[in-house]
Amino acid sequence: MVWKSGPILGIESSCDETAAAVLGSSGAVLSNVVASQHSVHEKFGGVVPELAARAHLGKIDLVVMCALEQAQIEKRQLQALAVTQGPGLAGALLVGVNYAKALSYGLGIPLMGVDHLQGHIASAWLADPTFPLPCIVLVVSGGHTHLYRRETNGECILLGRTRDDAAGEAFDKGAQMLGLGYPGGPAIDRVALTGDRLAIPFPRFHGGRDSLEFSFSGLKTSLLYKLRRMAVPLRPEQIADFAAGYQEAIVEVLVTKSLAALKQSRLSALAVVGGVSANSRLRAVLNERAGHGQFRLSLPPMEFCTDNAAMIASAGRERLMRREPCASDLDIYPMDGAMILSETSSVTAGFPK
Ligand code: KG4
Ligand code: ZN
Repeated sequence: MVWKSGPILGIESSCDETAAAVLGSSGAVLSNVVASQHSVHEKFGGVVPELAARAHLGKIDLVVMCALEQAQIEKRQLQALAVTQGPGLAGALLVGVNYAKALSYGLGIPLMGVDHLQGHIASAWLADPTFPLPCIVLVVSGGHTHLYRRETNGECILLGRTRDDAAGEAFDKGAQMLGLGYPGGPAIDRVALTGDRLAIPFPRFHGGRDSLEFSFSGLKTSLLYKLRRMAVPLRPEQIADFAAGYQEAIVEVLVTKSLAALKQSRLSALAVVGGVSANSRLRAVLNERAGHGQFRLSLPPMEFCTDNAAMIASAGRERLMRREPCASDLDIYPMDGAMILSETSSVTAGFPK
């Protein structure tokens, strides 16, 4: 099926947000609707896959209708669809992909499968289409902490990733230990505002010289051991100090490694995307460092940081514009790694000189 330039509907259902968005012919976001399942999973302290899939099923049609209505676009005006194919929860992905396949078949329009990470990466250009390439992209979410070099042709080369937990996971698990609930990132962010960042020292993982790898498991263990030595229950001001110190350790490593990647690759543009890029301390430190004028920074507006479908529609649009093929027999891929990437030897050995 051939893509004629026109409105695109994006659908995202990889984890615990059911989302749909419409982009206009020029790529502008006409609507961006997200139905969060946080209240479904809250009492379990994390996402329950079966409940996530059921909740997507119950909401997807409504969310798509809402997105079309807000964009003031009729279904028949759509020229293409884009849907998250993976990585993510199998049952959750199936809901979005099957819905999109049925819609594409019914309307006779092309359907582009999109990698969730590719979507997060595309979000950097949603608010700032003139952001330069090549650049460094840090993807920080609940499942990923990956540093890429993005080339002029859109290709992403992996420079470094986490050896264990993702930054978002470290936030979520830290919040759970501090009794702050789920999702943990926004909770730590909020509580840390009144805490002292320097009151409780936490370890930072830097790896070898020039390493662009991350690791957050030591930090998490450090929090666990520190809490075991405390008299419980903690006072609110103690929780705030723990949250602020813990958050600072994550933020400092994310910023240091991103700046090291810029320096090693001699680039001067950095995009930071994914749920953790909503963190107020991370945004403040990055803005401050970029304020010195040494590099240009893209931090997506909050609505494009956490999971949303505008980023999926945008990544799909990029691929359609490159005339990449669409598959009518689209399948899901729950596991990481299907995204077309060139992995350099720098992942364990540092960036090649
Ligand atoms: O991108 P995202 O919505 O979903 C994934 O692809 O994983 O990211 C979710 C992650 C969660 O771990 C959540 O705790 C974290 O992003 N997060 C934050 C903040 N808002 C969301 N972490 C730190 N500070 C925040 N304000
Ligand atoms: Zn995500």
